[in-house]
Amino acid sequence: MGTAQSELPRAPRRAEGVLSSISKVEMALRCARLGAEVTAIDVTESMLRRAKEKTRGLPIRFHLMDAHRLEFDDGAFDVSVLSFAVHDGPRAARVVALREAARVARRALVILDYDFPRREPWRAMVVGLVRLYETAYLPDFARQGLPPVLAEAGLEASTVSYPLPGFCAIHVVRRDEPAFGKGHGMRPESPMSR
Ligand SMILES: C[S@@+](CC[C@H](N)C(=O)[O-])C[C@H]1O[C@@H](n2cnc3c(N)ncnc32)[C@H](O)[C@@H]1O
Repeated sequence: MGTAQSELPRAPRRAEGVLSSISKVEMALRCARLGAEVTAIDVTESMLRRAKEKTRGLPIRFHLMDAHRLEFDDGAFDVSVLSFAVHDGPRAARVVALREAARVARRALVILDYDFPRREPWRAMVVGLVRLYETAYLPDFARQGLPPVLAEAGLEASTVSYPLPGFCAIHVVRRDEPAFGKGHGMRPESPMSR
């Protein structure tokens, strides 16, 4: 989360970020308190209602929107943030969400998501525990990890940090990296199951 936050204030003039899949709204609150103008999207109306109640007075705009079809122009924001939003879905849907988030970001795409221990038995234990409250897609995400999915989206992280080693990682894809946004500007079709 630290990386996502530190991206925002360093943006030129005013920092504007888009955040996909808001859920508990914590990331949107943190970014807004640091002075970013935050646009947050979620596909579930009840989530948006709850989020609006928590964020009164902060400059956060909410939109009911699908992360796979963002209704924003290319490069509409300085930074886009996907916080625990990539693991939940089939691989093709993950690729589309990453491409869309990259498409709307001028400077960087920040992805915070699970990153499990490499070694057994710790790996099986942590994946097993997280699986209890996640969807059926989690084991597939745990097997693949994020880098191959980023690569399929035409992206590559320039930095990876581990705020909670063995549990989650923050991948930052910078726009000035050559790999940023291959296929930038392409609006993908709806994700397919794999
Ligand atoms: C696992 S939570 C996201 C976690 C949250 N970003 C955080 O950091 O705590 C899942 C959220 O994603 C939303 N969501 C699921 N599919 C989505 C989609 N295709 N587009 C936008 N939001 C979606 C759900 O409504 C829910 O609010």
